[in-house]
Amino acid sequence: MIRWGILGCGKIAHKFAEDLIKTEGAQLHVVGSRSLAKAKAFAQNYQAAHALDSYQELAHHPEVDIIYIATPHMFHKAHSILCMGAGKSVLCEKAFAMNLQEVDQMLAFAKAYNDKNPDQTVFLMEALWTQFLPHFNFVLTQQKSGDLGAITGLEADFGFKADYDPNGRLFNKSLGGGSLYDVGIYPLFAALSFLGMPESLNATAEIGPTGVDHHCHMTLHYKDGVKAKLHSALDQHTPTTATLYFEHGQMELVSRFHEPSGVRITKGETTEVFEFPTTYNGYHYEIVHCHQMLAQKRTESTQMTWQKSRQLMQLLDQVRQEIGLSYH
Ligand SMILES: NC(=O)c1ccc[n+]([C@@H]2O[C@H](COP(=O)([O-])OP(=O)(O)OC[C@H]3O[C@@H](n4cnc5c(N)ncnc54)[C@H](OP(=O)(O)O)[C@@H]3O)[C@@H](O)[C@H]2O)c1
Repeated sequence: MIRWGILGCGKIAHKFAEDLIKTEGAQLHVVGSRSLAKAKAFAQNYQAAHALDSYQELAHHPEVDIIYIATPHMFHKAHSILCMGAGKSVLCEKAFAMNLQEVDQMLAFAKAYNDKNPDQTVFLMEALWTQFLPHFNFVLTQQKSGDLGAITGLEADFGFKADYDPNGRLFNKSLGGGSLYDVGIYPLFAALSFLGMPESLNATAEIGPTGVDHHCHMTLHYKDGVKAKLHSALDQHTPTTATLYFEHGQMELVSRFHEPSGVRITKGETTEVFEFPTTYNGYHYEIVHCHQMLAQKRTESTQMTWQKSRQLMQLLDQVRQEIGLSYH
């Protein structure tokens, strides 16, 4: 059994825990919250053995192998380093950190820890769950097959209308709020996965009263005039699809493309639909991957690599520079 800890008992922690307790080989053992009552209620809900009111104690708990970090973006670096420093592997929610410098500090910490502790290394991965979803990997395989010819463009969006709360995680600048880090990361991840790093990018955004972006339009430019047109929003519902255009057809990851979903492939007059049903929320794929990586004593994922997390953060940094959004 792999003994999991959960750090931060918010919304996504619940969805993750629902899948974790159904995943073979996983045991939700310890939960940590700033509030003991919240930790106890969470632990009771998912049959975790220990509930703690301290992230520090969770990190140092002797019966934990890996900790899932589900706090706001602004704390990901500190919480990842806290857990790794106590010898725990880490699966840290997206966005991995606030900027490339922070990501590099997390990676340097992991490397230094593992150099010092070669018999008890820690594993570190960004919880970019889309990387592990079957429909997403199906599209990557189809693209590689070359059946539709070369890719000529991508359009992807992710938008929803959030209730406006200037102090809440989504709009509060000191918690790393804004549409870009919360949902814009997914269209950027799609562009990175299907097209790689662009030659350049442009972006425009509407910055709201708390200083974070309410929506953001991004265009990534690749060679031969290929473009990825991306959009994120917290102030309107958008289709939340990703469409890849090819010389001989198109592939659409249907709504909502970042979570377990389907694929529609059109070639000439023919359209085929592929479904990928699951009874889970979709987090079990990344959980199973973590188990495999731990069994192989890896320090880095073979799929959501440190380089991919660095590149994703470089894109976020470039977009932030374009739209004039600084968190410090
Ligand atoms: N992969 C996905 O599908 C997905 C979906 C949604 C969000 N996310 C990511 O998951 C992370 C958390 O998002 P969420 O929607 O779960 O947020 P949330 O509901 O606000 O929960 C965040 C938790 O972080 C802890 N926390 C620690 N310091 C805090 C502070 N100063 N202010 C507020 N909370 C603080 C709190 O837990 P305690 O009170 O228990 O300490 C809180 O419940 C973000 O990185 C987000 O991007 C991922």
